[in-house]
Amino acid sequence: MREITRDVIVVGAGAAGLTAANELRKAGLSVAVLEARDRVGGRLWTDVVDGATLEIGGQWVSPDQDALIDTVAELGLETYSRYRDGESVYIGPDGTRTRFTGDAFPVAESTARVIAGITERLDAMVAEIDPDRPWAHPNAADWDTVSWDAWLRAQTDDDEAVRNLAFATGSAMLTKPAHAFSLLQSLLMAASAGSYSNLVDADFILDKRVVGGLQQVPLLLAERLGEDVLREQPVRTLTWDDSAVTATADGVTVHARRAVLALAPVLYERISFVPALPRLQQQMHQHISMGFVIKVHAVYDRPFWREQGLSGTAFSPYELAHEAYDNTNHGDDRGTLVGFVSDRHADEVFRLSAEERRERILDSLSHYYGPEAKEPLVYYESDWGSEEWTRGAYAASFDLGGLHRYGADLRSPVGPIRFACSDLAGAGYQHVDGAIRMGRLVADQIVAELRA
Ligand code: FDA
Repeated sequence: MREITRDVIVVGAGAAGLTAANELRKAGLSVAVLEARDRVGGRLWTDVVDGATLEIGGQWVSPDQDALIDTVAELGLETYSRYRDGESVYIGPDGTRTRFTGDAFPVAESTARVIAGITERLDAMVAEIDPDRPWAHPNAADWDTVSWDAWLRAQTDDDEAVRNLAFATGSAMLTKPAHAFSLLQSLLMAASAGSYSNLVDADFILDKRVVGGLQQVPLLLAERLGEDVLREQPVRTLTWDDSAVTATADGVTVHARRAVLALAPVLYERISFVPALPRLQQQMHQHISMGFVIKVHAVYDRPFWREQGLSGTAFSPYELAHEAYDNTNHGDDRGTLVGFVSDRHADEVFRLSAEERRERILDSLSHYYGPEAKEPLVYYESDWGSEEWTRGAYAASFDLGGLHRYGADLRSPVGPIRFACSDLAGAGYQHVDGAIRMGRLVADQIVAELRA
């Protein structure tokens, strides 16, 4: 077993951990980044599958994500816009397929009025929420003890309006059923993107991609750290007291003054803490769980939907794939569609054989784009639920009532241990932007402490 000493141990080489490590290095501190996997990037993973380059994890950048945008630019990476020319498709409750433009779904006028009215109310509530302190809102307890679904259903009995409003933060973001998380959690999700309206605007939230893939961000950050990034080193034990910490991984022991846990909070329990974490943390971490979504990639010889005047953007709260987009890579002649199958739908199709699942999902895509969608050259399902070092997608959130009960303690230091992850962020919550923000924040705090 190799034994080394550094100022700071960073556990996890995702966007948060690698940002923290680089910032600490810039401030003159020594670091060791211990990563469980044989690759860096965590939930950012760009790979070639059957000859097609796919973004298996995160990929989109939105215009409010300053921390990510700055990092992308600073690393010399280029971005390009998601293809969005032409009409979008909406499928209604009776299976009717409607083509439309703009961001309002082509629903009955009365339903559209209900959606617009509730959206306005939500935007006003979101404007009062500080994404870094949602629990501080005077109504936090009330809003955190009613489910997102129950609150929406109390506003209207128009089921189509409820389903359309619910899926923006439910299936599409927190990737949990709308009864499983609170109104406050939903408002936080929206506040982290600036407003509820921003969140439902695909042209905003899914604006740009990085040429060559978003995993280049962690790859380039790791390159700067050289041999201080140790792969295939899952941290098994953290031994700590008030002034020092030791991480024991499979092939290395690191002694340091501080440790940054830069991993999804659902994985903290994989580490043995000696002594155990305080009661509050042990309780709190049990109230956080990962969402679950399958990101489906289908690559065709050409983007055939564009020939029909379609942008590739498609939504339906009634479809297995509740949303889908043109995900063609920059400069690629082939066409790629990406679709998403979320929460209970994902559970359901994972009970099927791989062949049946593929058939069901492609059938759903064909409802948006026609029969040609059923015959991709390359088909791939990103299955983060079976990844030992992630356990779901996209990210983690509190169960009903957990956010106002525990949120304020989520990032509280424990002795020399600090916490950083997209799943703990305010602005950029559950996104790469939030991971970078958390990495910077924790690095600034440690630099200030160690210089004091
Ligand atoms: P992350 O989970 O990436 O990194 C944690 C690291 O810790 C991992 O590398 C893990 O292996 C490691 N680790 C865990 N336990 C360990 C241990 N005991 N010892 C050592 N290492 C350990 N975001 C976005 O902005 N735009 C988007 O389009 C999308 N889309 C999207 C799609 C899919 C399918 C997913 C899964 C996710 C997204 N996201 C996204 C979310 C985004 O990818 C995510 O929020 C960040 O990449 C998370 O970065 P972190 O560094 O916080 O955690």
